[in-house]
Amino acid sequence: MRLWNLRLIDPLIQPGDFARRRRRLLDVMRPGSIAIVPGAIEQRRNRDINFPFRQDSDFYYLTGFCEPDALLVLIPGRDQGETIVFCRERDAASERRDGRVLGPDACRLVLGVDDGFPVSDLDEILPGLLEGRSQIYMNLGEHLLWDHRLMRYREQLAQQRSSEEPEVGEIVTLGHLLHEQRLIKSAKEQELMAQAAQISVAAHYHALAMISPDVTEADIEAELHYSYRRQGARAEAYPSIVAAGENACTLHYVQNDSELSERDLVLIDAGCELQYYASDVTRTFPVSGVFSSAQRDVYDIVLAANRAAIDACRPGNHFNHPHEAATLILVEGLIELGLLHGDPEQLIAQGDHERFCPHKTSHWLGLDVHDVGDYRLGDSWRDLMPGMVLTVEPGIYIPRDDSTAEIAQAYRGMGIRIEDAVLIQKQGCQVLTEGLIKEPDDIEAWMAARAGKRNTARVVA
Ligand code: GLY
Repeated sequence: MRLWNLRLIDPLIQPGDFARRRRRLLDVMRPGSIAIVPGAIEQRRNRDINFPFRQDSDFYYLTGFCEPDALLVLIPGRDQGETIVFCRERDAASERRDGRVLGPDACRLVLGVDDGFPVSDLDEILPGLLEGRSQIYMNLGEHLLWDHRLMRYREQLAQQRSSEEPEVGEIVTLGHLLHEQRLIKSAKEQELMAQAAQISVAAHYHALAMISPDVTEADIEAELHYSYRRQGARAEAYPSIVAAGENACTLHYVQNDSELSERDLVLIDAGCELQYYASDVTRTFPVSGVFSSAQRDVYDIVLAANRAAIDACRPGNHFNHPHEAATLILVEGLIELGLLHGDPEQLIAQGDHERFCPHKTSHWLGLDVHDVGDYRLGDSWRDLMPGMVLTVEPGIYIPRDDSTAEIAQAYRGMGIRIEDAVLIQKQGCQVLTEGLIKEPDDIEAWMAARAGKRNTARVVA
């Protein structure tokens, strides 16, 4: 199958799935409480132009509704309806300019909630819904305009309250309840994330096909975006990192405007977002098509660490086991190369390896690239469970600066990271980004075959 032809038009997650998520949240909320889940607000880019709109992940998770200026209210056990959406009203003139909106009347039918109201009526309706609630679940600090409104309503209620009436409900963070649910991906979410990974893998192959000293980081970035859009993904899950040579030592390098040099590696850390679900994958390739011996030494260590961490991704292990496995391999390898000296466990305990390996190995992946969910429960790392998705991304970075003056020139000015997205299963795990080559011999063979094809094309032409 040509991956170019993979088209993903129909949303896999349907209104019934969003309704089940709301039900699960309502079932764990305290009786007498209320949850406020604000949607995202449009952000101005410059003058009268906004950034492309992206819905808040919590709000999307519970509604599937992608318009700005919306708010979800959940009230467990409320006789007149437990789920209410506030949204923009329909208006012919503005819809002619900006496109159709759903409008409050269609909320019940389309979103499956109990009621829909115009967001312009919030001041009249929401204080009444808050009145008498023992807890108000909400995530403060994410959408400041909504935070201010909620605080204003609480103050209003506190002022109106008579001494016999109960105190205005305390604000409790919603994150914990909701994010525990988001952390374990359903079968449909797993399917969607596998598709997102597949699109990203195909995009990386398109990028790989054009790597040569004739191109710039910007050319590769453009190829990734083009490939995502052609395959049905609207956006990147995070700003693409295309980092040649020493640029790869900047972990979140996004300038992406340098030329590639024949003697360098190029690190590509890029993943698409598909129907709101993120993918995240990194590979590091030799621009010439062949690793130098120093590049290969370091690459082999990072690859061994990536494989050891993936082996540790299984139920029965906790979140930090993959990191511990990867770090030990990285440090042992750096000692063997003569870049670190001493006992591996002691070096790790002292943090001496962070000079070359400054970041952790994993983060959760889902609707957000650095997805929600606690990494620790109390004092302990949390256990890995089927349905969790995490990245495995060990790396070694050796800048060419004063801090590495004593290191052999051949090792300086390189950053290597190899990252996969991993789904925990009942037995072990599935590597969602498996399709993207990472064995150095495979990379060299792939690039040589591509160069052969290019030369043939030139001769024929
Ligand atoms: N791969 C991008 C990040 O984890 O920040």
